[in-house]
Amino acid sequence: MSDGMVIKNASELVTCSGFSARRGAEMSELGIIKDASVIISDGVIRTVGPTEAILSPSEEKRLRDEGTVFVEAEGKAVLPGFVDAHTHLVFGGYREKEYAWRLQGTDYMEIMRRGGGIASTVADTRGASFEQLYESGMRRLDSMLQFGVTTVEAKSGYGLDHDTEIRQLAVSRELDRKHPVDVVSTFLGPHAVPPEYAGDADGFLAFLTDRVLPEVAEQGLAEFCDVFCEKDVFDLAQSRRWLEKASAMGLKPKLHADEIVPMGGTELAASVGAVSADHLLQASDAGITAIAEKGVVAVLLPITAFGLRKPYARAREMIDRGCAVALATDFNPGSCFSESIPLVMALACLSMQMTPEEAVCAMTLNGAAALDRAHRVGSIDPGKQADLIILEFPSYRFIPYHIGVNTVEKVVKRGAVVYDRSCSAISGG
Ligand code: NIG
Ligand code: FE
Repeated sequence: MSDGMVIKNASELVTCSGFSARRGAEMSELGIIKDASVIISDGVIRTVGPTEAILSPSEEKRLRDEGTVFVEAEGKAVLPGFVDAHTHLVFGGYREKEYAWRLQGTDYMEIMRRGGGIASTVADTRGASFEQLYESGMRRLDSMLQFGVTTVEAKSGYGLDHDTEIRQLAVSRELDRKHPVDVVSTFLGPHAVPPEYAGDADGFLAFLTDRVLPEVAEQGLAEFCDVFCEKDVFDLAQSRRWLEKASAMGLKPKLHADEIVPMGGTELAASVGAVSADHLLQASDAGITAIAEKGVVAVLLPITAFGLRKPYARAREMIDRGCAVALATDFNPGSCFSESIPLVMALACLSMQMTPEEAVCAMTLNGAAALDRAHRVGSIDPGKQADLIILEFPSYRFIPYHIGVNTVEKVVKRGAVVYDRSCSAISGG
């Protein structure tokens, strides 16, 4: 019995071929193969090409005799699984009341100053057990998987004390082990200053550096480090110090940069050699040039701008200046309670002037690059992990066009179908 799979007769195979981020004009090249098939074994993509060229009748008979599973994709587009490279997946409680305050005109940072916002999720997360965080994490991953997400990043930062930060990261590690979606962990200790350190961001950073970081590094609990570099949160010097200390302990740097007030966080990302700079709503021209030159991936989060009613990041200019742009949800209980990939892609096209081709590249190969995984996932290339999605429509163009609606019919993870919409039947009538 083989554990192989063939995805056969895709009307359009969107390979997004590549092993590193695509920058600037390269983002438009999706490497599409018409009437194509993919041959998979042991969870790895082996052969990709036009069906006629790679699947002769005798080869098909041989594979079928071996017990290879054939998945028919006629009339459907096949893409790499989506990589959601920026989420705050693990948290306790919700903030639906805060949403109503925002609608009445209260600013996100004002809510935070009043002890709402991140602080309220911190209190709920401190009060949640490992099991509670794990269960809600599993349900959220189920939903993300249905949107075609096969790799997701998960940040800590709702504990802001030793035990809860470690618990959040341990939950992410367990989710990675148990759920089909791959979960990549980021230690975002400096997400806010907790009440115990009110007015003493330096003291809090020293606590994180001395008491939490060594344990996170030693236990391999996170691959990346991150900081909320923002006015009234952590300033440029504090952010730099944190990223340098955490990098020295082996965590690769990322940062929440220039989200609300322009601070020079984008320039800082280039200067510390960050893997990605995220948000960038207020990134300066010099910052954009610097990350383009340094090859820092710009992770843009359009649902957050939409939800906070802030101006969008300047995606068009970033791409035209040679940046590698990735798109992600920023799923979190406050500024963006949404895991909707189709909404991300519709907003990218309609409000950030990205083309559908660029949006697809940004959600796949460049998302993988933002997690330092472009050599492993993010494209349909021989040798890569077999993470793919099959749409109900014949072209990737339907994803942003079908605004906010899920077009994913099947998800293949490491060579096995892990989600099939046709199996979740509607009953009654
Ligand atoms: O990426 N900006 C800081 N962190 C999150 C929001 C977290 C929250 O509101 O709980 C973000 O938008
Ligand atoms: Fe975020």
